[in-house]
Formats: sequence, structure tokens, C-alpha cells
Amino acid sequence: MKNILSVILVLVAGAFCTLDAKPAPGVTRTTETCGDPTLAAPFYRTYSTTRAQHGMCLNLALSLSNSFPTWNYQALVAFVFATQEESTVPFYQMVNSATGDRIYTTNATEVTALEKTRYGPAVAEPVYYIYPTQICGSVPFYRLSKAAVHDHFYTVSEADRITAIDSQGYADEGIAGYVFAPEPTQC
Ligand SMILES: *[C@@H]1O[C@H](CO)[C@@H](O)[C@H](O)[C@H]1NC(C)=O
Repeated sequence: MKNILSVILVLVAGAFCTLDAKPAPGVTRTTETCGDPTLAAPFYRTYSTTRAQHGMCLNLALSLSNSFPTWNYQALVAFVFATQEESTVPFYQMVNSATGDRIYTTNATEVTALEKTRYGPAVAEPVYYIYPTQICGSVPFYRLSKAAVHDHFYTVSEADRITAIDSQGYADEGIAGYVFAPEPTQC
């Protein structure tokens, strides 16, 4: 009986040791270390038909209530982080107070340049966090612009990107960063 008890105790202690396992002291994380994808939040696109402009946000209800009534939900475009996760960088949201144009960028030099014009950080959600390179299962977040209506448009869809360039008058502005794509819809 005593022997069985001590065997059980050893087994139980062993289980706890496994659960308690931690990296050895001094283990450094590499730049490939990923953020926790379960913490990534849905990033929504809004659109104003009267302004022909796009916006993006995490808090859709707040964003729609803060904006002019002509703004509507358009699509779930990506998953991004609301707080800084491993290997992510800030994705700043800059709003032009005159035109309403919203630029999302990881480029701090661009933010400084924009601040010298009519752009300033968005009040409700000034910053998100995304990957600066294609790691951790992320995909390119394409950036496009249409100067005629002061709009910037972002998409993970290669097809939407090509349509915007070929038939909607948008200019290609490269890749803004790397985000998680939403699951393809089952329809
Ligand atoms: C960052 O923004 C500045 C100012 O707009 C631009 O000159 C520079 O090329 C940008 N850097 C990258 C890596 O895109």
C-alpha cells in the first residue's frame, strides 16, 4: 500500500513538473517569435458612399457612432493586435482633419511627415499592432490610394487589389505590413 501511494505521489509530482516547465534562464527569443494569434482581434472596414472613403477599426459600434451617419460596415478585412505582441510593430492610424482621409502605416517617418500636414492620430483607436515582415502565418496587407477622393484602401485580397487598380482608379502603394487573413467564407 505504502509503495503504491509513493508511486502515485511521484506520478502526480511529475505531472505538475511538466505543467510548470519554463524556458531555461537566459534563453533569448528570436525575431521569429510570434505573438499569440488567439489575441488577434477582428479588424473591420467601414465605407462612406457619399465620401467614397474607407476606414478601419476594431470597435465597429463606436466607430460608426463617432462618424458621420453616411458611414457603414463594409467587411471584416483582417485580424490585428490591439496590444503589442511579440515581433509586432505599431500600425498607426492617422486622420486628415480636412479631408477625412485615413492612413494606416507602420512607418514612423511617414507619421512624422503626416503630422506636419493636416493629419493627426485617430482619437478612439490611434494604433494597432501588426508584423513588419511575413512571419507567423501572416499575409500582406496591400495599401492603395485614390487621390481624387482622398481615400486609402487596404486589403489582404490580391483579387480586390487588382480590381481597385484596374477598374476603380486606385494607385498601388505597396504593402503596409502583415496581418492575419480572416477565414474564407463558406459560401
Ligand atoms: C517611410 O516614410 C518616408 C516618408 O514618407 C519615406 O520617404 C520612406 O521611403 C518610407 N520608408 C519605407 C520603408 O517605406
